[in-house]
Amino acid sequence: MPYDVLPIAERREFLYSWRMEIRKDHNLSKLNTFGVSANAKFFVKIANEADLGKLFNAPEFKKNKKLFLGGGSNVLFTKDFDGLVILNKLKGIEVLSEDSESVIIRCMGGEIWHDLVVFTVERGLWGIENLALIPGTVGAAPMQNIGAYGADLKNTLLNVEAFEISTGQKKIFTKEECELGYRDSIFKNKLKDRYFIFAITLKLSKKEKKNLTYKVLQEHLEKNKIKVKNSKHISDAVVDIRRSKLPDPKVIGNAGSFFKNVFVKPAELKKLQETYPDIPYFEEDEIIKIPTGWLIEQAGWKGKKAGNVGVHEKQALVLVNHGGAKGEEILILANKIIADVKEKFGLELMPEVNLI
Ligand code: EPU
Repeated sequence: MPYDVLPIAERREFLYSWRMEIRKDHNLSKLNTFGVSANAKFFVKIANEADLGKLFNAPEFKKNKKLFLGGGSNVLFTKDFDGLVILNKLKGIEVLSEDSESVIIRCMGGEIWHDLVVFTVERGLWGIENLALIPGTVGAAPMQNIGAYGADLKNTLLNVEAFEISTGQKKIFTKEECELGYRDSIFKNKLKDRYFIFAITLKLSKKEKKNLTYKVLQEHLEKNKIKVKNSKHISDAVVDIRRSKLPDPKVIGNAGSFFKNVFVKPAELKKLQETYPDIPYFEEDEIIKIPTGWLIEQAGWKGKKAGNVGVHEKQALVLVNHGGAKGEEILILANKIIADVKEKFGLELMPEVNLI
């Protein structure tokens, strides 16, 4: 079993040898999946809850603005960060309880999200298999209610444990209190920058609960004659689809979908259909979603390069760093795309990535 999925109790050896240290002028290029270079005025890694106590009392923490970082897979550093960057390395996955139907799992925020998916599917549990290979850490998952292939975190989340940054007070947010929406939560809105998420608790099913609502996933299973007998079959299929469509950040810098998909009202869709009869759209809970990848492709940007940056050739929603790009260049490209889509379709694109 890889170290990353060891239960909390078995991590003591690592914790004993660990000492938290606040560094100055730290380069963040290896800590963001875009791979852009930016410096943090102060930088610290936290690996256990005791570190958090020490951190809240440190003068660098009290005096500076703060940024909590997980896998760095949803941020774009457009300039240096004039404050303290806190890298969350809080590790541990534990089973809190179980009955004949379900298992309650608590996972620390610094775990890699995909390792948690692996942990659950290897134990035959259902609930997050459709979310396989989403980059980033567990702590970042509730921030934007991560979702893919017909599922999102909301389906399994029970609660979120967080620290209020200004007081150091711990608070448990129920799922309802998290106000989860499409790529959205209270932590991106009302409570933006106010809480640090350090653990989440999920309820997973022991009973089969396959979610094959997403057409692309269904088609992949049919094409490859895969009979779904367990949740791993689904997570494996999702891994295959993602690998075939989305660039691996280890090979080419990117942060997954750079923009959110666009929501429109029925009347807006009707109007768009007059000019673009083939416009794709999805209806979810009476909300009409237009794939931004299609809009960007129609605006002529798919596969385009602009200096060191560009739009991915297989998924236009993904902006890439072809090497040596500055965050600013990616932002300039994003703004050009926003302007072109606005001009062509009258629709406003919203970044999904957190711009720093
Ligand atoms: N499309 C195009 N051209 C493109 C890309 C997409 O025309 O270059 C159109 C096609 O009509 C396609 C449709 O968009 O059928 C949907 O594409 P896809 O299945 O790839 O999904 P998406 O809506 O583009 C969303 C998520 C992805 C997630 C997939 C699968 C957002 C912003 N993105 O993309 O999430 O993996 O669905 O569920 O909701 C991420 O958040 O980083 C991410 C990759």
